[in-house]
Amino acid sequence: MIEAAVFGYGTVGSGTVEVIMDNNDVISKRIGDKINVKAILDLRDFPGDKYESRVVHDVNVIIDDPEISIICETMGGVGAAYKFTKMALEAGKSVCTSNKELVALHGPELIELAKEHNCSYKFEASVGGGIPIIRPLENALTADVILSVCGIVNGTTNYMLTKMDKEGAEFDDVLKEAQANGYAEADPTADIEGHDARRKIAILASIVFGKTINSEDIPTEGITKISARDMKYAKQLSRKIKLLARYESSDNKRYAMVAPFLLTNEDPLYSVDDVFNAIKVTGNMLGEAMFYGRGAGKLATASAVVGDVVECAKNLGKHIPCDWSSEVVTLTDMESSERKFFVRVGAETASEAKELFPIEEEVKVGFYDEFSFVTKVMTEKAFKEAKEKMGAGMINYIRME
Ligand code: HSE
Repeated sequence: MIEAAVFGYGTVGSGTVEVIMDNNDVISKRIGDKINVKAILDLRDFPGDKYESRVVHDVNVIIDDPEISIICETMGGVGAAYKFTKMALEAGKSVCTSNKELVALHGPELIELAKEHNCSYKFEASVGGGIPIIRPLENALTADVILSVCGIVNGTTNYMLTKMDKEGAEFDDVLKEAQANGYAEADPTADIEGHDARRKIAILASIVFGKTINSEDIPTEGITKISARDMKYAKQLSRKIKLLARYESSDNKRYAMVAPFLLTNEDPLYSVDDVFNAIKVTGNMLGEAMFYGRGAGKLATASAVVGDVVECAKNLGKHIPCDWSSEVVTLTDMESSERKFFVRVGAETASEAKELFPIEEEVKVGFYDEFSFVTKVMTEKAFKEAKEKMGAGMINYIRME
């Protein structure tokens, strides 16, 4: 019998228990041994819950139980989750997590700790919810030099942008609705400011490169400045606005960024709507491959956690290697990267904009209080300088692919 425990009985934690118990026959068959959830750690009680009797409040009950060999960490955050994960790994228990914040911040250290104690630290569920992406990057796409990883990795913001696109609604109204429907957190900052996507691309880029890309080093813009007007312009340009998390590597240059982009319908990410996520990986031999699916949600994320549990159960007493060292990679300054930009400025500043930006085409949808255009290809540096000179005249800008 493989005994597992779950840290944190919230949405993903309860989903994890549900997946292990409801799919027990098939999971046990895949492991080659019966699996059970012996204990659930949470500060709260859950009267009436099917697994109420398994809830414990003291982490040591689980750490000191020699029968428990695998932990599912679904607490989130980097406080208690970090401490308890270290305790579990030091006790030789493998840890499978959905906690992207903890993985982005302490991934290599926890992998190393797992190695020292002949157990494993697995985090498939930390990026893309239920989409298998970490394992393919580690184990399947190993014949290629990975040139880029680019994806929609935040379900909340993709849901909001889809709503704004389809309904012409304003950002604040869509955010309120997303919160009412449980798609957005009460404090949505990490999602709407792009921090969640930044952590996820930092994890993916680190896995691809084998060294650490600090999420704080990744230039990040969220979706808070996107308005119903931007959506109208996007339609006029036959494009959609998507929050992209990207990593590119070429000629010793390594760029990473999170920002809204205007995509044409030739980009496979154009069709990824609602809470779905997709990650496009480009290899030098493979070309493009895309991984698509439910990037958030109880059972989808739990499915990825339990997939890791199965792998750990098949490798008990052994460390499953992960090529991610703590050596930090310095990213190339974004300023040298080049692209077109869609720009909106106040109508009264049109002549100034015409002098500052290399304009390729004007975009007109009938808002006469502003002047809007697409630039020719320019560097981020040149764009930043022109934007700063525009000052308050600049209403908004969105990068183009
Ligand atoms: N807040 C995240 C999202 C949850 O919306 O994608 C999944 O990581």
